[in-house]
Amino acid sequence: DWTMGNFIEMEINKIREQVGDKKVLLGLSGGVDSSVVGVLLQKAIGDQLTCIFVDHGLLRKGEAEQVMDSLGGKFGLNIIKVDAKKRFLDKLAGVSDPEKKRKIIGNEFVYLFDDEATKLDGIDFLAQGTLYTDIVESGTETAQTIKSHHNVGGLPEDMQFELIEPLNTLFKDEVRALGIELGMPEALVWRQPFPGPGLGIRVLGEITEEKLEIVRDSDAILREEIANAGLDRDIWQYFTVLPGIRSVGVMGDGRTYDYTVGIRAVTSIDGMTADFARIPWDVLQKISVRIVNEVDHVNRIVYDITSKPPATVEWE
Ligand code: XMP
Repeated sequence: DWTMGNFIEMEINKIREQVGDKKVLLGLSGGVDSSVVGVLLQKAIGDQLTCIFVDHGLLRKGEAEQVMDSLGGKFGLNIIKVDAKKRFLDKLAGVSDPEKKRKIIGNEFVYLFDDEATKLDGIDFLAQGTLYTDIVESGTETAQTIKSHHNVGGLPEDMQFELIEPLNTLFKDEVRALGIELGMPEALVWRQPFPGPGLGIRVLGEITEEKLEIVRDSDAILREEIANAGLDRDIWQYFTVLPGIRSVGVMGDGRTYDYTVGIRAVTSIDGMTADFARIPWDVLQKISVRIVNEVDHVNRIVYDITSKPPATVEWE
């Protein structure tokens, strides 16, 4: 009968049969799906797998390190890391329109991935973390198509790959179970959804290094306190945003004029509709005090109490 253990064994056999002694390429995003595919393929074909991880500098605190340490270190995946922080920031300089930002990030991603892929010789297969739901939903209009979508993985036009999609019969909860069965850390397996454009759409308007830092640091504090309160599995998504407005505050004897950080936390089934999470006041208070104390240039915290619709989950 069907168990996750059997599934892994069957998939591994299937992958070995399909791949033979050829080579496979995988784009890692840091997300659950591509990570699980990576670990599964590593088990099946070892060094015949090459992964490309483009660090666009718009990831959350510690995420790039986690990908390299955990997947590259503990699981021994062969990962080519493309450090493209400066490149993305340069391309994004002076751009404040959300859709333009998405487009730049998405295009640059595909460009860099393709560029790396072209340098590799003799790759026959491209692996992808496509889920069953991705196949079922494609073609139907989802709320997300309202915002243009850019995820990891583009195909170089002159390169012909055969696709390997080992998760395409699974739902998200089954992918998580698979990850656990493969020995992957809970933090990775239960990672909350994170948009392809990353923190680039959580710094509203023009992106600067300083603003990214504020979002990254405040977001890390929020995540830590949500985990401390044991709420991380109940809340679908929780993050901070930087609207870019500044307001007057007071610190000691002096007046401050600094940034406002917004906290967004929602419960949801699929992201199509969402309700703001009822985080207990004392947890919110702790988060607020910590962010103002620990993150420079922040003197005010607001909590987003709108549902989707009419608001979206992200602020851009
Ligand atoms: P919204 O903001 O549209 O978000 O209510 C719904 C879900 O989609 C995620 N999201 C994105 N994911 N690229 C992505 O890969 C994007 O451009 C993008 N925009 C929104 C969002 O984080 C939420 O989970």
